[in-house]
Amino acid sequence: MDKLIVEGGQSLAGVVRVSGAKNAVLPLMAASILTDDILVLTNVPNLGDVRTMGRLLRHMGGQAALYPQIGGGEVKEEAVISMGSLSKPEAPHELVKTMRASALVLGPLLARHGRAKVSLPGGCAIGVRPMDLHLKALSQMGAEFDLSGGDIVGRAPDGGLQGANLRFETVTVTGTENVMMAAVVAKGRTVIANAAREPEVTDTARALIAMGANIEGLDTDTLVIDGVESLNGAVHRVIADRIEAGTLLAAVALAGGRCRVIGAPVGEMATVLDKLSEAGAKIEISRDSAAGTGGGEVTRCPYDAADLVVEVEPGGLTATGITTGPHPGFPTDMQAQFMAMMTTARGTSIITETIFENRFMHVAELRRLGADITLEGRSAVIKGVSGLSGAPMTASDLRASASLILAAMAAKGVSEIFRVYHLDRGYDGLDAKLINLGANIKRVPVK
Ligand code: EPZ
Repeated sequence: MDKLIVEGGQSLAGVVRVSGAKNAVLPLMAASILTDDILVLTNVPNLGDVRTMGRLLRHMGGQAALYPQIGGGEVKEEAVISMGSLSKPEAPHELVKTMRASALVLGPLLARHGRAKVSLPGGCAIGVRPMDLHLKALSQMGAEFDLSGGDIVGRAPDGGLQGANLRFETVTVTGTENVMMAAVVAKGRTVIANAAREPEVTDTARALIAMGANIEGLDTDTLVIDGVESLNGAVHRVIADRIEAGTLLAAVALAGGRCRVIGAPVGEMATVLDKLSEAGAKIEISRDSAAGTGGGEVTRCPYDAADLVVEVEPGGLTATGITTGPHPGFPTDMQAQFMAMMTTARGTSIITETIFENRFMHVAELRRLGADITLEGRSAVIKGVSGLSGAPMTASDLRASASLILAAMAAKGVSEIFRVYHLDRGYDGLDAKLINLGANIKRVPVK
């Protein structure tokens, strides 16, 4: 267990590259279950959750080589996965409890192996996180489920899953991904209405198409999938992480300074870039560096990647309200980071969280730094204060961890942030990246 010691007051300068997206690499790793061939993922972020998903795939009997070392000790940001030897279609509690995204193996296991036993993911700090919509949609494709001993035990009909006309009553990202991965090798056509349009869903669809799947309607709320007999392997580059990119921009907004954020998926960040600019960040999109094509790769990115040059005067932020919503709305995964920005902005801002029922755990911690935040139902009212002062804080979830670090960087004096294991699950060395930009952060083990 580590803690971070942050001394505020340093403005940021320099260059930082955006890693691959956590919320894309996890469904992409689950998609490997759909073929006996090898799936190679590149631009894989160095995350605890990727290692957990690798453990899960191996637990099932597959091979998953993560971050393979090549000559000279260099580590490649790759995952090389072969699930042809899968023998145990199950995701046990000890793995699922540390990463609820393990539930993404449910659809692929049912589609490919006709059965699955997946521990029902528990809730987490931000909400109950049910799976009823996943199960309802898969049942409409012919799957049957029992709940026994905390496990979802699923079976597909002998003839395999059948295509169906589905509609999600609530937009669900992993629900859309689970059903899409089941539908690509189901019999016949599946239509998913009110599908999630997150870029990570589209990235997963692109990889499935490269594997031989038939999917229409990418980036729209209606996916039309014609099942095929089987899928092949592929090599797929994971889309850059728009939430990490937004978090880095928010860090500069809080600390002040000028930085270049390389390889951001700018085409997927319109709402975040608009809101950051509205709050006072000067952001320029620069397509001139090769790196803007996603880390210097010569091949064209299938999505619009570029560099973002961001400049903010210290203390130069203006209060701006946000309401989170499904893509292309303002992402809930950027809510905590944006709230940190508003704590010292001029004026009063209102932040409304419409996706999760309990995603304000960071409020109590930010108040410890002197932030003036009151909660009214699903909204938070933030009155900008002239300055924050450092204090010990405890992280509750992944994005809250980032929010606390960012606020501590703007606070006078020293802050300590405990339970940073949350951060390491979902960010690729965020503290190291911020240190490289000039932040005064030390990571120390807690006995
Ligand atoms: C994905 O979670 C992301 N995780 C989350 O990122 C993200 O916050 C969330 O989508 C929303 O964008 C991954 O992609 C691995 P949902 P997911 O199903 O799929 C309700 C992060 O910080 N719902 O879109 O679990 C649910 O309670 C993480 O990177 C049901 O009611 O979220 C929520 O209110 C946190 N029944 C809403 O839908 C269901 O069966 C949206 O949840 C499923 C969901």
